[in-house]
Amino acid sequence: MIVNHGPIGVFDSGFGGLSIFREIHKLMPQYDYIFLGDNGRAPYGDRSFEVVYQFTNQAVRRLFSMGCPLVILACNTASARALRNIQVNDLPKLGDPTKRVLGVIRPTIERCADLSYSKHIGLLATQATVASRSYEMELEKSHPEVKLTSRACPRWVRLIEQGLQDTPEMHDIVKEDIEVMYDADPEIDTIILGCTHYPLITSLIQRILQEMEHPEIILMPQGRPVAYSLKDYLFRHPEVETRLTRRGTCKFYTSGTLTNFDHLAELFLGRNVRVQANHIEW
Ligand code: DGL
Repeated sequence: MIVNHGPIGVFDSGFGGLSIFREIHKLMPQYDYIFLGDNGRAPYGDRSFEVVYQFTNQAVRRLFSMGCPLVILACNTASARALRNIQVNDLPKLGDPTKRVLGVIRPTIERCADLSYSKHIGLLATQATVASRSYEMELEKSHPEVKLTSRACPRWVRLIEQGLQDTPEMHDIVKEDIEVMYDADPEIDTIILGCTHYPLITSLIQRILQEMEHPEIILMPQGRPVAYSLKDYLFRHPEVETRLTRRGTCKFYTSGTLTNFDHLAELFLGRNVRVQANHIEW
C-alpha cells in the first residue's frame, strides 16, 4: 500500500467551521490545511439524519481524494449525525486503514465537564444536533454525573448568516431560547455553544446573561478545546502525525458562490481568505 502524505482536511456544512479552524491553525500553523465548506447545501441543521450522513460522507471522501490523511468534522451537526457511522462503517471499506476522521463533540464534552462546578450543563445547538442526542450519549459514557439540558435553536444560523446578529429580532430570539433552557434547569453553570456559528454572537449571549442576572454562567465555544484535543491526539498518534505535510499552507474550497465566501469567511476567521474553487464534484 502506498502511504500518502498530505494536509489536514477541515470540513463544515458552511462557514461556521472556520471558527474551529481558526483555533486549530493558531495552535498548529506548521501543518498544511484544506478547508471545505458545503455552502451550496448548507445549512445542515434542519436536515434529516440520512441526508446529513450522505453529504458528510461525500465531503470526507472528497477531502481524502484531495490527499488529506486526516479529516476534522468541524461541524456539530455532521459530528452528531455522521461521524460514528463513517468511523465504524465507511472507513474500514476504504482499503486504507491509516485514514482518520475526528469530530468536535468529544473534545467539547471533556472540557466542559471539567469547567462546570454544578455539573449542570446547557447545550445550545441546531435541531439536528439536539435530536441526535449525541452529547447525552457521549456524556453518559465518560461523565454520567453531568446533567445536560439541551435547547434547539433553529432560527439562529440563518440570522447570523444574514448578518442580523446585532438586531433586536436576534436579541429577542436568543433570549427566549436561553431563558427556556435556564428555566428547565436553573442549576446550569456552563453553556456549550454547540454550533460553529454561535461564537459569532458571544457578546450578545453575554449581554443576555447579564440581563438575566446570571453573568457568572460560563460560555464554552468549541474552537480551543477542539484544537488542543487535536494537538494531543497527534502527539499520541505519531503514525498519523508523520503523514501530515508541514509547509504552513491553507486552501479554502466551497460548494457555494465565491463572492459571498470571501466576505463571510472573514467574519468567522478574522482575516482575509481567498477561496480556491467552487467546483466540488460530490
Ligand atoms: N456547522 C453547523 C453546526 O455546527 C451549523 C450550520 C448548519 O446548520 O449547517 O451544527
